Amino acid sequence: MKPLRHLTKYFRKYQAYLWWGFLFVTLSNLFGIFPAQAVRVAFDMVQDNMVLYKCLNGFTIQEDMYDIFIGVLFFFAIIILGFNLIKGVFMYFMRQTLVVMSRHIEFDLKNEIFTKYQELPLAFYRRNNTGDLMARISEDVSRVRMYSGPAIMYSMNLITTAILIIWMMLSVNAVFTFYVLIPLPFLSVSIYYVNSIINKRSDSIQSQLSSLTTFVQESFSGIRVIKAYGAEHVMLRDFDGESEKYKQRNMLLAKVDSLFFPLMMLLIGLSTLITVYAGGMAVIKGSISMGNIAEFIIYVNMLTWPFTALGWVTSIVQRASASQRRINEFLQEKESADAGGAKTFEFRREIAFKDVKFSYSKNGRLVANGLDFTLKKGQTLAIIGPTGSGKSTVASLLTRLYGVSSGAILIDGENIDAFSLYSYRQHIAFVPQDVFLFSDTIFNNIAFGLSHEKIPDIDLKVKEAARMAAVHTTIEDFTKGYQTEIGERGISLSGGQKQRISLARALVRDPEILILDDCLSAIDTVTESQILSNFKTVFNGRTVLIISHRVSAVQGADQILMMEDGAIVERGTHAELMAGKGAYAALYQKQLKEEGRKS
Ligand SMILES: Nc1ncnc2c1ncn2[C@@H]1O[C@H](COP(=O)(O)OP(=O)(O)O)[C@@H](O)[C@H]1O
Ligand SMILES: [Mg+2]
Repeated sequence: MKPLRHLTKYFRKYQAYLWWGFLFVTLSNLFGIFPAQAVRVAFDMVQDNMVLYKCLNGFTIQEDMYDIFIGVLFFFAIIILGFNLIKGVFMYFMRQTLVVMSRHIEFDLKNEIFTKYQELPLAFYRRNNTGDLMARISEDVSRVRMYSGPAIMYSMNLITTAILIIWMMLSVNAVFTFYVLIPLPFLSVSIYYVNSIINKRSDSIQSQLSSLTTFVQESFSGIRVIKAYGAEHVMLRDFDGESEKYKQRNMLLAKVDSLFFPLMMLLIGLSTLITVYAGGMAVIKGSISMGNIAEFIIYVNMLTWPFTALGWVTSIVQRASASQRRINEFLQEKESADAGGAKTFEFRREIAFKDVKFSYSKNGRLVANGLDFTLKKGQTLAIIGPTGSGKSTVASLLTRLYGVSSGAILIDGENIDAFSLYSYRQHIAFVPQDVFLFSDTIFNNIAFGLSHEKIPDIDLKVKEAARMAAVHTTIEDFTKGYQTEIGERGISLSGGQKQRISLARALVRDPEILILDDCLSAIDTVTESQILSNFKTVFNGRTVLIISHRVSAVQGADQILMMEDGAIVERGTHAELMAGKGAYAALYQKQLKEEGRKS
C-alpha cells in the first residue's frame, strides 16, 4: 500500500470528485434498498389478503376485491421500477465522477512520468531498456488507474451497501442475518484466490505477447535481410514456437477463467438456499414474515457483488501498488540531468580541454585518455581518426551529454558546468553521427523546436539552411516539397538525404558553436565537396568542431587532431601534418588512392 501514497496529492487535487462520488454511491444504494422493502410489503399484503379473499368465496365482493388487489400490486410494480430507475441514474453519476477522476489522475501521472523522463540524463537511458520505460508509462499507469478509479468505486460501494443492508437485516432478525451472511466471506476469499491466479497467468500471457510483438516487429524491419538470406522458413518456425507458447498460456488462463463465474454462482446460490431454509424455519416459528424472506433474497443478491468485488479490489490494489512502486523508482531517481550552474553562457576567447579523461562506466576503460587541446573562438577544429578512437565521445563531452570523469573543459577559463545547461545549449548546435528524424514533415524536422512566433522569417531560414546543406533542390523535387512527410507515415530517405536534413536542422539555428559528428559519411564525394564549399560561408565567424574519418572533410580546418585509442597522436594544420609524414599523411595517401580507384 505504501507506494500508493504517491497518489495522495492527486486525490487531494480531485477531492471534489471523491465527495460527489461517495454521495452518488450512497444514494444509488439507498434506492436499491427501497425496492426490496416494497417487495416485502407487497408479499405480506398478498399473504394477508389471501385468507380474506378465500373467505369471500361465492360473494360478488370477491371480484371487486380482486380488482383492487391487482391495482395495488401494479402500483407496487411501478414503484419498484421507479426506484430502480433512480438507482440507475445515480449509478451513472457515480461512474461519471469516480471513473472520470481516475482518468484525470492517469493523465496527470503520465505527464509527471514523461516530464521526469525528459529530465533524466543520457546515462539513465543507457541503463534502462526502452521496453521498460514504455511499460512504466503505459501498463503500470493503467494498473494504477484501476486502483484510483474502479477499486475506489467498488470499495465505497462495498462499505455503503454492507452498512445499509446489514443494518436493514439486523432490524428484522439478528440470527437470521447471521446465517444468511455466512457464505459471503468465503465468496470474497475464493474470488481473491481465483483472481490472483488469473492475474499471474495474464501477466505471463502479457510478457509472451510482448516477445511475440517484438519478434514480428523485427521480422518487418529486418525483412530485407530475411529475404536476401532466404530465411523465411526459419522465421516461420521461430514464430510458430512463440505463437505456440502464447496459445498454451492462454489455455491455462481459460481454465481458471471459467472457474470464476460458476464459483460465484455456487456461493450466491448457497446463500439463497440458506436464506430460504433458515427463513422458512423462522416463518414457521413466527419470528419473521414471508415478505422478509423475499426481502432477504434481494438483499443477499445485492450483497454478493460488493463481496465479490472485495476479493477483486484486493488484487487490484496489490497490482497497483507493485506498479506504483516501479513508477516511484523512476520518479525518485536522484540523478537528474545536471542543469549546471546559474551562469548565462558567454563565450569570448576559447574552449579548452584540460587533461580530460572519461569512461562510460565506473572503473571502465578510458575512452578519452588525457585530452588536451584548445579551440579558439571563430576557428575550426577538426578531429580525425579510425572508428572507435573516441571522436564521438569528444562531441558528447562538449555537448554535455556526459560529464568528464577527470580533468576539465574550460570556456574562457570557466568550467563548462558553471553555465546553465539551458543557456549553453541555446548557443550550440550538434549534428550527431546517428541521424534521427521524427515522423513529421521535412520542414518541421529542420525547424525542430523553432516556431513562427519566435522567428517570423523561419520559412526563409529553413530554405537557406537546406541550401547550405545541399538538400534544398532534393526537397523541392518532392511533390509536397518541404511539407513532405517522412518516416513511418511518409517517404523514406536515403542515408545521405537524412544526414543533410539533419545538418540543415543544425544550421538553421544559426549557432555560435557548431559541432558536426561525421555528418557527411553517407554523402557522395561530389555533394560532399559542394557542402564543404558551402561550409566556407557557414563557418565564417563561427566556432566549429568537425569530426570525420575522411581527410577531405577536415583538411580545411585551422587545426586538425588525429586521434587513436582515446588519445591525440598528431596535431597541426593539413600542411603541417602532411609535412610530418606521420599517420595523417599516410591516411591521406590511402584515401586519395581509394577515391582514385572509385572514379
Ligand atoms: N554509449 C556508450 N557506452 C559505452 N561505450 C561506448 C559508448 N559509446 C561509445 N563507446 C565506446 O567508446 C569508444 C569510442 O567510441 P566513439 O567515441 O563512438 O568513437 P568514434 O566516434 O571515434 O568511432 C568505443 O570503443 C565504443 O565502443
Ligand atoms: Mg563516432
